[in-house]
Amino acid sequence: MNNVANIRELSGEIDELRREQNAVILAHNYQRPEVQDVADFVGDSLELARQAAETDAEVIVFCGVYFMAETAKIVNPRKRVLIPDLLARCPMALMLSPEDILESRKSYPDSEVVLYVNSSSECKALADCVCTSANAPQIVKAMDSDTVLFGPDRNLAYYAQKRTDKDVVVVPEGGNCPTHHQLSLVDILMAKSRHPDAELVVHPEVDPGIQELADGIESTGGMLRYCRESPADEFIIGTEEGMVYRLKREFPGKRFYHLSPPMLCPPMKSLTLDKVLDSLRGDRFEVRVSERILREAGKAIDRMLELSGN
Ligand code: 13P
Ligand code: SF4
Repeated sequence: MNNVANIRELSGEIDELRREQNAVILAHNYQRPEVQDVADFVGDSLELARQAAETDAEVIVFCGVYFMAETAKIVNPRKRVLIPDLLARCPMALMLSPEDILESRKSYPDSEVVLYVNSSSECKALADCVCTSANAPQIVKAMDSDTVLFGPDRNLAYYAQKRTDKDVVVVPEGGNCPTHHQLSLVDILMAKSRHPDAELVVHPEVDPGIQELADGIESTGGMLRYCRESPADEFIIGTEEGMVYRLKREFPGKRFYHLSPPMLCPPMKSLTLDKVLDSLRGDRFEVRVSERILREAGKAIDRMLELSGN
């Protein structure tokens, strides 16, 4: 069977099971094209958390990395949350441990802790507030302390620091996203020379030197708004390549360019349509979170949702 026919057949089966089970499929902007196409909603971390909190469906099939599915469970604990691949873990989230946070709190006893949503639920349970790339400066600004401990992404910390008058201390010092970190100034300069009329739009997880060259620095959801509102009709996209598919689908009249080499997030790409179908067929893999974590991490996530207008 050819690939297109295979995708159509799998998508049809997924559709049937989704209706039978009253399930909703949420997918991140970095998912494979065919997974984005079968989803009920595609978005960035903040938009997906809001969708998960508000859904009436009984089951949430979360096509993203584990911390995102965990966040969905925490904001809506009565729902059954499934992730089609249990090994889809964000390497940056694994760079921060609860011990790192406890140690830093000892060194900065008067500081509040803001954690990027790309972190484990055990870490979130120790945070004062969570943030996403869509609201990091707003959340850091809203903290009561003058110094804010921020983890685990040092580049998002830089982005937030530049837009607030707080002292932002990164925990752990070198935390980064390997997918965004591999992007070099040379890659950017070459793309700019190939597409001199294009605007450069990057994610705040890229290095500071690249942030300084960008026309727009946006979460993946923010990139959609930016490209919709910009009068430009060509864009170089400095984030995972799934975003380029999303932008092309939304704005067929504009042109979007990958960087070379293309930026790939392996755990995001590990989710396939077969796995989504198996997830619905076998009711797996269910995301479970302890009562304590639901309560404590839930407080930090709810504070973010309140501060960012939900
Ligand atoms: P967004 O919330 O901007 O989609 O970012 C999530 C992420 O993991 C970026 O690497
Ligand atoms: Fe994690 Fe980076 Fe992948 Fe985002 S792109 S999920 S931060 S590894």
